[in-house]
Amino acid sequence: MISRKMMTSLNEQINRELYSSYLYLAMAAYCQAEGMSGMAKWLVAQAEEERGHAMKMYHYLQEQGARVVLKAIAEPPAEFGSPRQVFEETLKHERKITAWIHELMEQAMREKDFATQGLLQWFVNEQVEEESIAADIVAKFKLVGSDARGLYWLDRELGQRGG
Ligand code: FEO
Repeated sequence: MISRKMMTSLNEQINRELYSSYLYLAMAAYCQAEGMSGMAKWLVAQAEEERGHAMKMYHYLQEQGARVVLKAIAEPPAEFGSPRQVFEETLKHERKITAWIHELMEQAMREKDFATQGLLQWFVNEQVEEESIAADIVAKFKLVGSDARGLYWLDRELGQRGG
C-alpha cells in the first residue's frame, strides 16, 4: 500500500517518462529528416526505453493496488536547430529527469515508504547511466565539430545501438 500523495507523484512521473519518449521520437524524426539515420535509430531506441520506464511505474502502481491515471502528453518541439543541439537537449532533459527522480526519492524517504524507495533506487542508478551516455555523445559532437567526415562517423557509431 502506498500513500495517495505517492500515487499522484508516480502518476506524474509516468507522464514525464511518456513525454520523454515522445520528445525522443520527435528528435528521431528530426534527425531522420536531416539525413542522420544512425542518430535517428539511437533516438527511437531511447524513446522505447522511456516507454519502458513509464511501464515500470505503471506496473508498480498496479502491484500496490494503486490507480494509474493517465494525463495528456505535451507536444514536443519539431525543430531542434542541429543534430548536435538534439543531443545537448537530451543531456539537459536527462538531468531534469534525474532531479525529478531524486525529488520522488526524497518523498519516499520522508514517508518511510520502503517499497517505493526500492523502485526508485533502480531509477537513480538508471539515471547515472543515462546522463553518462548522453554526456559522452555530447563530448563526441564537440570533438567532431563541423567536420563532415566526423559527423558521418558519429552517425554510424550511434546507429550501432540495438533496440
Ligand atoms: Fe526515463 Fe531517460 O529517463
